[in-house]
Amino acid sequence: MKHWRFRAILIAAFILGSNATFADGAGEQEYNVACAGCHGESAMGDGPLAGLLSISTPSLTGLSSANGGVFPFDAILTTIDGRDGVRAHGSTMPIWGERFQASATSQRGETTEMVARGRILSLVYYLQSIQQ
Ligand code: HEC
Repeated sequence: MKHWRFRAILIAAFILGSNATFADGAGEQEYNVACAGCHGESAMGDGPLAGLLSISTPSLTGLSSANGGVFPFDAILTTIDGRDGVRAHGSTMPIWGERFQASATSQRGETTEMVARGRILSLVYYLQSIQQ
């Protein structure tokens, strides 16, 4: 009986812990490290590296308004991941799915794919939260 209670607490802690990833600013931190250099801290497409690129870096705050007021969640997820092949050749944007997977270490039975997807998801949630 005690055993079960202990397990239930562990599971609850795990679930609360993983929800916290979305609420505690993980996506914002990730954004500031990996994306702000080009897209800008305020996501207006004005990061310090933007001027060095041969094409212009898009602002990421108007993704919803460009899509009839609905945040294009799946499309943005796929765009950031980049592994579907559409961006694989000739895009300026790094293929984040590949990078995140390559740098991931698996722990607690998570695969590197799960780690990479989690990071991309938290980025998409962050972008969704800054739409104007
Ligand atoms: C090296 C500069 C650079 C970095 C770093 C970068 N991007 Fe981009 N991003 C671009 C450019 C340039 C485009 C325009 C299309 C293209 O070339 O792929 C773009 C396009 C996008 C788009 C599509 C916008 C639209 O209007 O459809 C999204 C979403 C995006 N980036 C998100 C991110 C996220 C999230 C990160 C960080 C994980 C990131 N970018 C990091 C340069 C960058």
